[in-house]
Amino acid sequence: MSPSLPAPREVLVSGNWKMNHDHYAAIHFVQKLAALLRTSPLPARRSLSLHPSFTSLRSVQAAVESDAVPVKLGAQDCHFAPEGAFTGEVSAGMLAKLNVAYVIVGHSERRGHFGETDEIVRAKLDAVLSQQMSPILCVGETLEEREAGTACQKVSTQLEAALSGRSAEVLGRVVIAYEPIWAIGTGRNADAGDAEEMAAHARAEVGRICGRETGAVVRVQYGGSITPDNASQILACENVDGLLVGGASLEADKLLEIVCAGA
Ligand code: PGA
Repeated sequence: MSPSLPAPREVLVSGNWKMNHDHYAAIHFVQKLAALLRTSPLPARRSLSLHPSFTSLRSVQAAVESDAVPVKLGAQDCHFAPEGAFTGEVSAGMLAKLNVAYVIVGHSERRGHFGETDEIVRAKLDAVLSQQMSPILCVGETLEEREAGTACQKVSTQLEAALSGRSAEVLGRVVIAYEPIWAIGTGRNADAGDAEEMAAHARAEVGRICGRETGAVVRVQYGGSITPDNASQILACENVDGLLVGGASLEADKLLEIVCAGA
């Protein structure tokens, strides 16, 4: 390869199962994925993380490790405190003990249904980073904000609240997921132009908040109604280097098609 050509990007596709798949279904999924990967391995510079519910994490970890399936383990959320009287919650340390590599933080469903503020999201980011895991920080605008022309402002505010004042070392582990809320679970994905524009904006904002070099290398995923049919178009965007996939990640063959799209 000519030294003047940029290196091919690393792409991370993350399957967010949300509140789907009990642990039996989760094991079955991993077995199916393992079989599919034996005949069609992941392309170079493509990687995959699976984000089951908390009750399935241990089963998925065991299935992935016993079959040496080339996927990373991910979680959908965690609490910000290291331990204590928080009935029903799961700490970042508990996830790290299960070899969780990625934790989704500030998903719009957490922000919307469970009242997570930017302050809480920042505290969760702290917790994930303190356990040496990578947070997938979700940002994105509502339909009303898009129509009012304030989408960029919304994303800037969310990024600033979560990332300001952090060191370059920890920023190297942060993944940004741009997810327009109007595209999540609606079947209406952003077109490639919109996805690229907002991913470029998010990257530029990370550069402004954290330093240009960090902005240039930060991984930016797009999420919202990704399917095998639209994945390659979105992955072709210059500033998109990964996907956060909900509904279409529930089937192993679809998820594999997505992670291989356009490679
Ligand atoms: P969706 O969800 O792919 O079902 O739209 C994406 C997400 O919520 O991360």
